Order: sequence, then structure tokens, then C-alpha cells
Amino acid sequence: MWARWPMFLFVCSSIVIGECKIINNVRHEVRKFPEDFLFGTATASYQVEGAWDKDGKTENIWDHVTLTNPCVVKDCSNGDIADDSYHQYKRDVEMMRELGLDFYRFSLSWTRILPTSFPDKINEAGVQYYNNLIDEMLKYNIKPMITLFHWDLPQKLQEMGGWTNPEIVNWFADYARIAFELFGDRVTDWITINEPHQVCYHGYGDDSLAPLLNIKGVADYLCAKNLLLAHAKAYHIYDKEFRSLNGGKIFIALSAQWYDAEYEEFVDAAKEANDFTWAIYSHPIFSETGDFPPVLKEYVAQKSAEQGFYRSRLPEFTEEEIDYVRGTSDYFGLNHYLTYYVYRNESVVNYYESPSFEEDMGVITYFYDEWKIGESNYTKFVPWGFYKLLTRIREDYGNPPVIITENGFATRGGLNDEDRITYYRHYISAMLDAMEEGSDVRAYTAWSLMDNFEWLAGYTERFGLYQVDYESPERTRTPRKSAFVYKQILRTRELDMHYEPDTDVMTIDEGH
Ligand code: BGC
Repeated sequence: MWARWPMFLFVCSSIVIGECKIINNVRHEVRKFPEDFLFGTATASYQVEGAWDKDGKTENIWDHVTLTNPCVVKDCSNGDIADDSYHQYKRDVEMMRELGLDFYRFSLSWTRILPTSFPDKINEAGVQYYNNLIDEMLKYNIKPMITLFHWDLPQKLQEMGGWTNPEIVNWFADYARIAFELFGDRVTDWITINEPHQVCYHGYGDDSLAPLLNIKGVADYLCAKNLLLAHAKAYHIYDKEFRSLNGGKIFIALSAQWYDAEYEEFVDAAKEANDFTWAIYSHPIFSETGDFPPVLKEYVAQKSAEQGFYRSRLPEFTEEEIDYVRGTSDYFGLNHYLTYYVYRNESVVNYYESPSFEEDMGVITYFYDEWKIGESNYTKFVPWGFYKLLTRIREDYGNPPVIITENGFATRGGLNDEDRITYYRHYISAMLDAMEEGSDVRAYTAWSLMDNFEWLAGYTERFGLYQVDYESPERTRTPRKSAFVYKQILRTRELDMHYEPDTDVMTIDEGH
């Protein structure tokens, strides 16, 4: 892995002094985590559960898209069986014990619990599955962290407009209330919604995630507003009616990639790319003023007027709604994977479809080949971007407590995953750099416990600490080298950049 290093230094020393400092300073001493720092791994219902039509579960948008349009997924696969976690949950918990996890983040499938989408009928078999999983985890002291919504919206709600219908605020709140009632006695960590940007932009403003709506520059913004209100409503219900049960926490998981400027003249463009892609969700919740970022309101209103719209395509929040949304997250849940450079000059004119979110944002992104390690099309290796992102969150929002709810690296499979190990080590080290400068990061979650259905990439991109054999009926899980390295970090509560596992046999340590 070190063979790549000089290349990096070259790229950096030839262009960006600021980043050079960070990269040159990669620390090689063994570094300790704060005593109460927690480690976990994550998955999501559609990506692992399978049993798509079993025991009363009804169709969600991913079932629908993969059934009606199978080869929209790269390998024409689907999550019908996925990792079969619906039946293999005991093995999943065994893996959590092998790794020594403090917590495990998983999501609930809305239609497995509420087959009509609404609270009028609760599916006992679905509830039983989650009770079994939660109870099995608690038996071994592994904290469940539940995501209420990780993209698998009931198809019926989609047919009524999904996240573009303002009624979804009530639909989601009702579902959240049921989940709090069912599991709130044992669960203390709740995530309302995973990655609003992916839901709204990729699913509604584009066709890179279900429901593949692709109604650019309109549906994505309607979705953004409704989603924030739905999140806030679930937060208030929990806060008022359920928090006192056990003093739990509730928060949102935002995906924030880092946008940076290679040249001074693009610093504003980079800042605005961060505003458009993630501060659109964090500003309403974490800033002192609330509401969408001012730059976003200004640019979308201006473009909308030029395009002949009678009002901005970005819907407005009322003063009351601004107050209702502001402050509704106990942590800044952060999913991070990538960094891009951006530029903005005359070539951006007519570069994107009009209207569209990209046109409103008005930047072009690029990255360096040297940022690519391994074969994955997805993930790149830019740890300093993670450091800068954590720094901006600390500076912009008065240092909120942060939980890294996802971070990880894809390979094409294989047990010897040195690239993933390099990625994890350097990203965790960058996180420690930010923490040393004051960032209040409380927990880290590796995506993912095991390979799973990677949305439109199917099973071609593998994110697991454990490899899953999709040829075997029971979806056999085998630890990769990275699992041993992650386990060592958890066991010692230290980051040792040079630790080499001396075994490939996974066991459960005493006390787990
Ligand atoms: C999502 C996961 C996904 C991961 C890797 C995140 O955007 O929350 O569901 O598998 O990234 O692409």
C-alpha cells in the first residue's frame, strides 16, 4: 500500500499547499480514542433482509423498481433474497460479537411492519423479526441503533407522490410513532431518515435511485422540504412522548461529500457546492437561523425567474416551520465517502439540463486519478476531505456532537482487502486529527458489516468487512482481512496504522 504514497505527495505538493500539510502529517504513532468513544457497523433493510414478500410484507419502491425494470440494476439483480438476514439474523449478531461492536445500525422496513403503509394494521411477523434481532443483540450488550427510513418507501405511498406529497409528513410521523411504541422500551438510538440528498436528488431529481423519477429541479426541492418537516415531526413526537422512557436520542443521518477548490478563485464555488448538496439539510436543522441556506434560496429563485416560473422552484418554509425544524437532531449523523474538486467558469453555462439542481448549483466537479485506489468505480481515497468536512461542521454549527453513521470503501470482492484497510486507517486518522482540534465526534460506524445489495450497482460493489457468498443458499459470511483490522481497533481502542493480523480465524473474545 505504501507504493501509492509518493504519488499522492506529488499530486499534492505540486498543487495544493494546504492539503500537503495534512497529507504529509499522516501520523504513524499508535493513537488512542477517547474512553467513551463507540464503534459500530451499519446495514439497511432492503440491502440485507431479503424475504421481500414473506410473512405479510408488502411492496416497497425498491421491490417495485427491480421487479418492473430488473436491468436498471447493473447486474440485473435485486434484493429479493439479498443477504437473507431475515433468516440469518443470529449469524449477523454472531459477527457483531466477533468484531466486538458497541452498536449496530440497521433500518426498519416500513412495509414489513405496516403492510398498508398506515398504522391501521401491524404485521406481527415483521415485528417479531425486529424483536428477535434487537433481543439477540441486547443479550450480548450490543446497542441497536435504528434507522426508521433507509430508502425503501412503501410503493403505495410512492403512487401518491411519495416525498413530494406534503401528507408524507403525517404518514412518516405515524410510522415513526408505531416504531417508537414497538421498540422504544429497548432502543435508545434512533435515526429518522438516511441521506436526504440521496432520497431527494438521486430519487426524485435524477434517476440514479428508486423511484427513478427524474423530475429535475422541481421534485427534488419539494421532497427536501417535506422530508425535513417529516423528520422534525418524528423528532418532536419522540422528544415529547418517548424520550422519557429511557433518555434516548434521535437524529438524522446526512450524507455529506466534501467539495473543495484546487484554485483560490473557486473557493466560493466549492463552498456553495457544499451548501447545495448537504447544507440544504443541515442548515435548517443545525444553524442558528434555520431555513435553507441563503445562497440556495437566492440562486434557485433567480434561475426560476429567468426560466419563466412564477415562483421559486425551491418551496419556502413559513416562520413557524423554520422554528419547528431548527434544533431537531441530538447528533449530527454523518455519512461520508467522497471528495471532489469543483470549478465554475463560462463552461458551466448550458452544461447541465435546465432546470435542474446541478444547473442551480452551477459547478463542475472533477477528481484526480491518483485518488482512486482499487477497482471500485465508487469510492476514492481522499482522507483530508473528511478532515475538512468535520472542521466545517464544527465551525459552522457550534461544534455539535457528531456520530459518523457511515464511512467505508468498496472493492470487487476477495478476502484480502488491503485497499479497504488503507481507506479505513487513513479516514479514521483524519477523523482523529479533527477531534484533536476540537471536533466532538462520539462514534464511528463502518459501512458495512457485510457485502449487500448496493442499489443500482447490485452486487458488483462490495462494502463488507465480511464477504457474502451469493452462490450459497444461506449466504455464507466470511471475515475479510479488514474485519480483523477493525476488530483490533475496537479491542484496543487504538489506531495502529501498522497492525498486521496474525490469524484468519475469527473467534468471539471473552465478554462479547
Ligand atoms: C448509503 C448506503 C450505501 C452506501 C455505499 C450510502 O449512500 O446510505 O445505503 O450502500 O452509501 O454506497
